[in-house]
Amino acid sequence: MFKPKVLITRKWPATVEAKLQQLYTVTLNEADFPLTEAQLQTALQEYDAVCPTVCDSLPASVLNVANKRCKILANFGVGYNHIDVMSAKQHGLAVTNTPGVLTESTADIAMTLLLMSARRGAEGDRLVRSGQWTGWCPTQLMSSDVTGATLGLIGFGRIAQAMARKAHHGFGMKILYVKPTPADPLIVADLQAVQCATIEELLPQADFVSLHCPGGVATKHLINAQRLRLMKPTAHLINTARGDVVDSTALIAALKTHQIMGAGLDVYENEPHLHPDFLSLDNVALLPHLGSATIATRTAMGEKVLANLAAFFAGQPLPDRVV
Ligand code: 8YV
Repeated sequence: MFKPKVLITRKWPATVEAKLQQLYTVTLNEADFPLTEAQLQTALQEYDAVCPTVCDSLPASVLNVANKRCKILANFGVGYNHIDVMSAKQHGLAVTNTPGVLTESTADIAMTLLLMSARRGAEGDRLVRSGQWTGWCPTQLMSSDVTGATLGLIGFGRIAQAMARKAHHGFGMKILYVKPTPADPLIVADLQAVQCATIEELLPQADFVSLHCPGGVATKHLINAQRLRLMKPTAHLINTARGDVVDSTALIAALKTHQIMGAGLDVYENEPHLHPDFLSLDNVALLPHLGSATIATRTAMGEKVLANLAAFFAGQPLPDRVV
């Protein structure tokens, strides 16, 4: 029986890899090294399906390779700004993603960063590890209250709404949001959320600003020096979306000069080669793109890819088609 050839570009949860091996002629990446552009181009020529992640950059220049065999890019992740989807479409490639299953885990990481930044968690951890902690002190590492504070959400999709639920119902936070399209009135009512017409209107009111828009050209440097100046000096910026959404140089300047109080970042421009100045700043909490990194979520993401591949090879509508 014909088994399609499928390439998994990075190491996935073992249970999902085992299922893939039953169904397809699969090449796994046991060593878990990121592929080069040349290797990705060869993959497009040799496999029926390529399953990339955020680490695999697939711009038009890579997709434009001669003698392609590949017909589907079944992405492991909800964000697909690393793929030029218009070019993929022009080349007759379907693109799918994994929405829905990583909503709660990513919102949990956004809350983790909010709490770490507000309560100076990473600084406290470093102090204890350094052996320099001399004991409790009335003014040591004093920080910002989370309970009852105002959370401003830029973007109000699945992950932002999940974060808003945790923040509002768990921490009594007031919710502000900016969204280009109307939000579900029942959700807005449940969260007692207030819509701001513009980012400029939201920023001066928020104690915490959390970014939940897609990455890509349209949102590159959405948070720039000018907008950082609109934030309160006591405010914190949280980014679990994509690194490019924030101008790193401007954020570093704002943190160095204490123009804002702190930041919590899970994603970076030019990831994983983040701007070195972040490393020497105490008022930024840094995580290594952990948004969806729970066992259950990463497994569910793999299951979504399996469902998309199964539909594709059965000639059925794709559950999570992007193009
Ligand atoms: C993923 C993410 O783990 O799904 C996304 O868009 O940002 C991550 O949490 C990663 O992108 C895997 O490709």
